[in-house]
Amino acid sequence: MFETLKKATLDKIFVLMAEYAADPRTDKIDLGVGVYKDDTGLTPIMNSVRKAEQRIHDTAMTKTYMGVVGNKGFSAAVVDLALGGIVDLKRVRTVNGAGGTGALSILMNVLSRARPGGRIFISDPSWPNHWPMAELVGLKPHYYPYFDPRTRRVDFPAMMKMIDSLTTDDIVLLHGCCHNPTGANLAREQWDQVAECLRRTGAFPLVDLAYLGFGDGLEEDAYGVRKVVSSVPESMVAFSASKNFGLYRERAGVAIAIGKNETDAEIVSSQMQNVIRATISQTPDHGAEIVRVILEDRELRAEWQAELTAMRERMKRLRVKLAEAIRQRSNSKDFDFIAEHSGMFSLLGLPPAVVERLKVKDGVYMINDSRINVAGIPEDRVGELADYLLAAVR
Ligand SMILES: Cc1ncc(COP(=O)(O)O)c(C=O)c1O
Repeated sequence: MFETLKKATLDKIFVLMAEYAADPRTDKIDLGVGVYKDDTGLTPIMNSVRKAEQRIHDTAMTKTYMGVVGNKGFSAAVVDLALGGIVDLKRVRTVNGAGGTGALSILMNVLSRARPGGRIFISDPSWPNHWPMAELVGLKPHYYPYFDPRTRRVDFPAMMKMIDSLTTDDIVLLHGCCHNPTGANLAREQWDQVAECLRRTGAFPLVDLAYLGFGDGLEEDAYGVRKVVSSVPESMVAFSASKNFGLYRERAGVAIAIGKNETDAEIVSSQMQNVIRATISQTPDHGAEIVRVILEDRELRAEWQAELTAMRERMKRLRVKLAEAIRQRSNSKDFDFIAEHSGMFSLLGLPPAVVERLKVKDGVYMINDSRINVAGIPEDRVGELADYLLAAVR
C-alpha cells in the first residue's frame, strides 16, 4: 500500500523549528515560529484564560457531546466580537472549527460543494497552508498580487486589477488583518475599495481572521472584515482564537457563513454540519468554552482585553525599536517598513542565501522567505539583531 505514495513536503516551519531546537548555541534568536512570545521567550497562558479554566474545572458537570455545531455561546460571542452587529443575525450561521484551520477547512469544503473545481484567489504570498488546503478540497488556487518586495508594502493597484477581473464563480481569500507573512495591510480606504469591487463583481469573499486584536486594536482590526461582510450579499469568515487568546493547542475557532437571506443561511448551515459530521463529527470544546466564559463575563473580558493590549503594544514597541536601531546604524530608512507593518510578522524581503547566512553564522532563525516573528525579538538585544541584519545585507 504505502509504496505507492510519494513523500509529501512538510510545512517548512516545522523543519525550521526542529533545526532551532537542535542548535546548541545559547544565544540563538528564534524569529521563526508563528506564536506570540513574551520577553522571556515563553508563549504564556493568559491570566484570564487560567481563571476561566479554573472556573470551568470547578463548575462543569459533564463532558458529554456538545452537538455538531459546537459551543453556541462561543460562536455567538465571537460573531459579536468580529462583526459587531453589522449584519442581521438571521443571515448568520456558525459552527465551531478545530482552530482557525479547522474553520477554514469547513468553509472551503462547503465552497467546493457550491463551486466544484472553482477558483480561489489567494494573496501572493500567503500563509503557506492556504494553498494546500484549497487543493485538498478540490478548489483551484491562484494567486492575486499583494506584496511589492521592493517597497515592502501592498501593491494595491496590481491587487485591484486582478480582483476587478473576477466573476461570481470566483472566491477571494482575504486576510482580515495582520497579514501573514508580510505584515503589510490594507488601509481603511483600500478596504472600502476592495469591498466595493467585490460587491460589483460578485466574487465571493472568504475572510481569514486569525489575528484580531494583534494589529491596532479589536475594533480597528475588525474594520476590513466588517466592511466586506456589510457590503456584499454573501460571505464567510474563519475566526481563530489561537493567537488572541493564546489557545494554540486547544484548537478553538469559528466558521461563520453569512447568507443572502435566512433560507440560504439554513442551507449553508446544514452543509457545514454535514462536513463536520463526516470528518471529525464534533469539534474540541475546551478552548471554545474558555473563550465563551471570558467573553460573557465582564471582568474576565476586561482582563483579557488588557492582556491582549499589552501583547499588541509590546510587538509595536519591538517594531519601532528594531527599525530605529537599523536607521541609526545605517543612516537609511530602508527598514522603516518594520515599524509601519502590523501584526506579528514582517517580511524583510531578504534573499534565501542571506536568511541562511543569518541562521548559520549568527544563530538568527527566520522563515526562508525572510518572514520574522516580531514577538521573538529579544528586547535587550535589538541592537545586536540590527547589526546582524545590516551585516547580512551588505
Ligand atoms: C493567516 C492564518 N490563518 C489561519 C491560521 C490558523 O491558526 P490555527 O489553526 O492555529 O487557529 C494561522 C495560523 O498561523 C494563520 O497565520
